[in-house]
Amino acid sequence: MKKRVCVIGAGPSGIAAVKNIREEGVDVVAYDANQDVGGNWIFNEKSSHSSVFETTHIISSKTLSQYEDFPFDSSVADYPSHQELYTYFQSYAKLFDLYRSIKFNTMVQHCKRIDASKWEVTIKQNGIERTEEFTDLVVCNGHHWKPKQPTYPGVFNGEIIHSHQFKKAAPFAGKKVLVIGGGNSACDVAVETSRISKKTSISWRRGYRIVPKFIFGKPSDVFASKIAFIPTAIRNSLSGLIAKLIVGPNRFYGLPKVTHKMGATHPTLNSELLYKIRHGKVHPKGDIHHFDGAKVHFKDGSSEEFDTIIACTGYVLSHPFFDQKFIDYSSGPVPLYLKMFHEAYENLYFIGMFQPLGCIWPGAEQQSKLAALALTGKWKRPKNMKVLCKREVTHPHIKQIDSSRHTITVDFHRFLKDLKKQISMKRKNSP
Ligand SMILES: Cc1cc2nc3c(=O)[nH]c(=O)nc-3n(C[C@H](O)[C@H](O)[C@H](O)COP(=O)(O)OP(=O)(O)OC[C@H]3O[C@@H](n4cnc5c(N)ncnc54)[C@H](O)[C@@H]3O)c2cc1C
Ligand SMILES: NC(=O)c1ccc[n+]([C@@H]2O[C@H](COP(=O)([O-])OP(=O)(O)OC[C@H]3O[C@@H](n4cnc5c(N)ncnc54)[C@H](OP(=O)(O)O)[C@@H]3O)[C@@H](O)[C@H]2O)c1
Repeated sequence: MKKRVCVIGAGPSGIAAVKNIREEGVDVVAYDANQDVGGNWIFNEKSSHSSVFETTHIISSKTLSQYEDFPFDSSVADYPSHQELYTYFQSYAKLFDLYRSIKFNTMVQHCKRIDASKWEVTIKQNGIERTEEFTDLVVCNGHHWKPKQPTYPGVFNGEIIHSHQFKKAAPFAGKKVLVIGGGNSACDVAVETSRISKKTSISWRRGYRIVPKFIFGKPSDVFASKIAFIPTAIRNSLSGLIAKLIVGPNRFYGLPKVTHKMGATHPTLNSELLYKIRHGKVHPKGDIHHFDGAKVHFKDGSSEEFDTIIACTGYVLSHPFFDQKFIDYSSGPVPLYLKMFHEAYENLYFIGMFQPLGCIWPGAEQQSKLAALALTGKWKRPKNMKVLCKREVTHPHIKQIDSSRHTITVDFHRFLKDLKKQISMKRKNSP
């Protein structure tokens, strides 16, 4: 039967999927609600799918943040800005003539799996709904767009926003701002608001290791990749030790002690936060106990008034186009082999739905290549798929702390290696 594949999303993962599936001679159509490729990296002042803000620069360096089929131009910064990335994704789409396979301003509303070779996909285009049929579905809808909102006892009568709505620091000029979280969003946002706010504080519910963006003059991930051959646990301990030697213990900054190993939380890379703290521009606070009007009460017994709270508390995995009883990974676990193959639904693929300790799209590119081989029958699904899917949950690459944000973590280098092994093995076996 002739394959006709639907890709949901034309972000960094979706365009890699379209390119690689098409290169295997398979008919593919991608739908994207946005007006261009780039996904999260299309900066938009209005609330949209995009979650980057005016000053966002990526946290993985360009060397380890490129498709193997399309290296960055040498003029691009070590840590590209969102504008540079947007241009990069547009250039990739132009070079490989992907625009003709992508329908923009098109929202995928609902996907119904009829059987092993049929999907009914309902789309909305120009206000009109219609249903199309496909043999296979490739999900690339991203996992950093649906805010995870924290809740606390009491009522805060100031402004509360999520980092997804944070676009630039200007609206916070002269305000007393409390940023919640210890991830990359929180640290970036606190640094930005501290430049113009009356006061910026940052609330952490545990200690985090802040990794500088450069180690011995090299981007940190490039430095770490030199020891990628070492087993993950030993490598992480070594990297943690080096980071601590460079920045010193958290108590020097009034921040909670780090009680977990490197990699046990998604890494926070920031070269400005600690500097801002020691310049009295960002004020560390502990976890929040409750709200009372304009006052925030902290668990250490202190309290303070704020004008605005920016909750940088992460994102929820969401696939609103599936019936909840069909697929719901919003609170984990995510039992998908190589974070892409479902144990039972052979004509369903996920691409980019993993959280590396590094950049997403090099892994999405390899997943796309493997999906293309699976679609053409050159790669055969293992017979023990059920066991392999279960293993993804019981044997994660890295043992992490129990937090809802850690359901899809992979080790960047090991994940690429595992995918490439499947790709090369099956190519050799193919007719
Ligand atoms: C502030 C910020 C900084 C980040 N920094 C990094 C970083 O340094 N390194 C890194 O690797 N990652 C980073 N990320 C994660 C980011 O999500 C990835 O870089 C990357 O954008 C993932 O690509 P994607 O294509 O999988 O998803 P997305 O970029 O989210 O793209 C998904 C696409 O699917 C479309 N879509 C979704 N649902 C539908 C639907 N129902 N119908 C039609 N279209 C739909 C969207 O419009 C979008 O274009 C960051 C995220 C944020 C928020
Ligand atoms: N410059 C960049 O490139 C950049 C910038 C921003 C984001 N990103 C990327 O975007 C993704 C999302 O990052 P993110 O920082 O938005 O989210 P995140 O990594 O999920 O971090 C969320 C933070 O909020 C905390 N948190 C969650 N719920 C909380 C609650 N109820 N009360 C208090 N604290 C709570 C978490 O604590 P726990 O540790 O307890 O879970 C964690 O510290 C990541 O992949 C990140 O690397 C990159």
